[in-house]
Amino acid sequence: MKISVIGTGYVGLIQAVGLAELGFEVVGVDIDSSKVKLLNKGECPLYEEGLESLLKKHVNKNLTFTTSYEPIKDSDVIFVCVGTPQDKDGNADLRYLISAIKKIKETIDKDKYKVVVIKSTVPVGTNRKVKELLKGYNVDVVSNPEFLREGLAVKDFFEPDRIVLGFENLENKKPIEIMEKVYEYFKSKGVPLIITDWETSELIKYASNAFLATKISFINELAKLADKVGADIKVISKAMGLDPRIGDKFLNAGIGYGGSCFPKDVNALIYQFIDNNVEPLLIKATKEVNERQIIWFFNKIKSYYKNLNGKTFAILGLAFKPNTDDLRESRAIKLIDMLLKEGAIVKGFDYVDKARENTRNLYKLKLWRDYGYNIFILDDLYETVKDVDGIIIATEYNFNKEDWEKISKLVKEKVIFDGRNVLEPEKVKKLGFKYFGVGRR
Ligand code: UDX
Repeated sequence: MKISVIGTGYVGLIQAVGLAELGFEVVGVDIDSSKVKLLNKGECPLYEEGLESLLKKHVNKNLTFTTSYEPIKDSDVIFVCVGTPQDKDGNADLRYLISAIKKIKETIDKDKYKVVVIKSTVPVGTNRKVKELLKGYNVDVVSNPEFLREGLAVKDFFEPDRIVLGFENLENKKPIEIMEKVYEYFKSKGVPLIITDWETSELIKYASNAFLATKISFINELAKLADKVGADIKVISKAMGLDPRIGDKFLNAGIGYGGSCFPKDVNALIYQFIDNNVEPLLIKATKEVNERQIIWFFNKIKSYYKNLNGKTFAILGLAFKPNTDDLRESRAIKLIDMLLKEGAIVKGFDYVDKARENTRNLYKLKLWRDYGYNIFILDDLYETVKDVDGIIIATEYNFNKEDWEKISKLVKEKVIFDGRNVLEPEKVKKLGFKYFGVGRR
């Protein structure tokens, strides 16, 4: 079976490399020629654990990359993995998807049967639209959302919790059989294959992300109350999580969720509710709680110092979560922006080299112009905390493992704002630090 993958961004690249590892002959298509060049040399344009070694293993063997759509002529299955960013209203922008479908249409033979699989996250009704666009062509359109987590995407590809497949008509066995063949490896491993209709499949993706985001917002809202009354949100989460109906995952209070998925997908789901005249009460609240959480935390910092002008802070963790270089919707970046606006000086650190590099580039482009040169990204954590008025933890790395005794001697003022509740308060308090967490005594 020959497979092509359109779009070699995060989702497409993992799909292409993963399918190559499973033994398929795969062609990755992308309009970005510099990216294609890089990929054909076996170099990964993004940081994702385990991805580059798999890419190197298969590139120029059963995996190639090209800017041309021509190879899709011979493909049995075409995965569409282009981005669906947020438009100015908060809905998913389908521009790249529509353009990819048009290119498919221009390239493939009308009568040669193919399966077009939509892997991009798309609002309900999109697969139907795609089928409409391909009217008159011998194709079946399949919805196959992805559930990859950044930093764990390779693992998630090979060990998914479920594979969701949405079809136009469940009586039509041909595309179902083909997709079962593509995902045969997973089926043999006992991974549940959810075979359903287009609309259900499309909504499963949004429902899953919005539910996880809601868990986070729930615990974050509760953390504010815990903070006020002197309760410990970490113990509350732990006790709640022991009830298997609740589960302990995604109940860590902090400064809110970021990343390329949750904020965008929550927005897009709200939009889909409104579009269909259904009121999105809970999901809207999820979004609002998240937006306010960072402001609440920032106000905590502000009320401690009264005036932030001229104060220096170490921000530990820059990316939206650990083990990634991705700054999209990162709470750390939001905090940095707020601090700089108040005239503070920011020293930033992240364990991932590329996260630091991306932050440097971001501020070179975006903010130096507006806020002056008050941001410094350092390669060493101990250099970062040197002479600061306060330490702010923004990403949930295990900073416990660092030498806090050494840190206590380096800082100017011993104050920690732990935006991810990762430190052991008693340990740092013994060293003379004032500790402020999120909903912790
Ligand atoms: C998420 C989904 O997990 C994945 O299934 C989907 O395909 C894409 O979106 P990802 O964006 O990689 O994946 O990040 P995730 O690990 O889910 O974390 C998202 C955000 O939530 C991070 O900013 C993280 O800091 C925050 N978070 C997570 C919390 O604040 N508390 C938690 O308990 C868990």
